[in-house]
Amino acid sequence: MRRKVTVVGAGNVGANVAQKIAAKELADVVLVDVVDGVPQGKGLDMLESAPVEGYDVRIVGTNGYDETANSDIVVITAGFPRKPGMSRDDLLLANYEVVKSATEQAAKQSPNAILILVTNPLDAMCWTAMKVSGFKRERVIGMAGVLDTARFRTFIAEELNVSFENVTAMVLGGHGDTMVPLVRLTSVSGIPLAELADQATIDRLVQRTRDGGAEIVKYLKTGSAYYAPAASTVEMVESILKDKKKVLPCAVRLEGEYGITGLFVGVPVKLGKDGVEKIYQIKLDDGEKAALQKSADAVHELVTVLQQKTQ
Ligand code: NAI
Ligand code: 2OP
Repeated sequence: MRRKVTVVGAGNVGANVAQKIAAKELADVVLVDVVDGVPQGKGLDMLESAPVEGYDVRIVGTNGYDETANSDIVVITAGFPRKPGMSRDDLLLANYEVVKSATEQAAKQSPNAILILVTNPLDAMCWTAMKVSGFKRERVIGMAGVLDTARFRTFIAEELNVSFENVTAMVLGGHGDTMVPLVRLTSVSGIPLAELADQATIDRLVQRTRDGGAEIVKYLKTGSAYYAPAASTVEMVESILKDKKKVLPCAVRLEGEYGITGLFVGVPVKLGKDGVEKIYQIKLDDGEKAALQKSADAVHELVTVLQQKTQ
């Protein structure tokens, strides 16, 4: 049976997600955006590379949701970037409206879909999508930990001049300055990172990971990262569609796990055909626990603003 993935937001991240899904022949793709012509043009352009690249999927671009009906997965990347003069809360509320509207329309057409959120501020947008869709927590998942972990792995591999594939790591917490790279569980082919680098080097790599998004923005000036974010999103899509059961750090709504309730926070989960099939509660030391709680507190602050201003 053919699978279908809807990607809402045909901007930098969304278009790359759509293209990678097609290139891997994971599913037919429906690309949705509010700007007239953009999803249609990008969708057609991607379709025209099918004969060259050799993939057999259908790609449709649209400004509506009719074509999205019965999607297996809906990826939401729609949103505004922060503009000059806009406060963090202004951006939060603007993207709340975008994600609310996208979720309402997509969930109506695909009541059994799994939602993957990408729009920032990520953890608060997951909260929004779950509230609006009424979906169970297993079917509302945020992409951030895969990206943050990929950045950490990249910086470690470069520093030690080893294969990227050999570096295993796990970054937990919210998608922001308070994210929690778990150094204790980071290794190169099983060799603990602490045996391969001194503390000052590890601290520098951790900080660079926390600043990973800002580092790209500083280069691009008018936008944020999209190649690694799209690749990270597609790893999640693939694990679900192929029921691979990969263990990945994803934002999920915690209900008591790690002592946190009612918030989306990045933790290790198993991703399979039913979405989040297991939340792993790993033993954290006191420092890691405190860091995760601090990160959850930052997510709580944003959700409180949404609760107060969107009643
Ligand atoms: P972009 O500006 O290139 O694309 C956003 C697209 O959303 C635009 O094409 C816009 O027309 C569309 N859009 C706006 N309102 C819409 C609506 N109501 N319905 C449908 N489409 C709508 O931005 P980019 O670079 O693709 O980033 C998208 C979002 O993803 C941003 O919020 C960004 O901060 C976030 N992001 C999150 C990451 C993560 O790790 N969670 C990583 C990278 C980006
Ligand atoms: C990033 O980490 C902007 O959240 C985005 O690159």
